[in-house]
Amino acid sequence: MEVKVQEALDKLAGPVGILGASKDGDHKVITVSWFTQVSRFPPMIVVSVSPNSSITPIVSGQREFVLSLLPQEMEEVARICGHTSENVDNKLETSKLSTKESKHVKVPSINEAIVNLECQTVQQHLAGDHSIIVAKILHVDKIDDKKPLIFYDRDLCTVDNSLSK
Ligand SMILES: Cc1cc2nc3c(=O)[nH]c(=O)nc-3n(C[C@H](O)[C@H](O)[C@H](O)COP(=O)(O)O)c2cc1C
Repeated sequence: MEVKVQEALDKLAGPVGILGASKDGDHKVITVSWFTQVSRFPPMIVVSVSPNSSITPIVSGQREFVLSLLPQEMEEVARICGHTSENVDNKLETSKLSTKESKHVKVPSINEAIVNLECQTVQQHLAGDHSIIVAKILHVDKIDDKKPLIFYDRDLCTVDNSLSK
């Protein structure tokens, strides 16, 4: 891609999350930042995942996942879960994350997350070099009022205070 276009897209600041999917008890996680809300009623999100990721066939097959929003102090977790699985034995253990049973999906939720979005895939499309997964939110757990970790200009950042206060 032309350098200028990529530089412009790097200005799209967004939250960082952990995308989790599981099959037969094998729970896989990757760091994601290409996700957003796309519908209010019903509540839906879209997340963009690389077809080369180890998680993609599981998300496609099981049609359910958990998206866990990371608080700003979990920069290291984002880096560990953002590495290729071949280089990290067990991402959850290495990043010291603990899990709990989810309410509406078989994929575990993450205790340390700001919030866990339990999702069911409703559509999946290949869009360029990523797969976009459109999903309905089935359940959310407790919402922590910690600030979210942000990915901006190819870097992990914190969010500043509201300008209206
Ligand atoms: C801050 C950050 C954001 C990322 N966002 C995405 C994303 O939105 N979609 C994606 O497919 N990969 C994203 N990645 C890369 C994946 O996390 C990485 O390819 C994956 O963890 C590799 O694991 P795997 O070998 O199990 O597929 C991101 C990585 C980092 C560090």
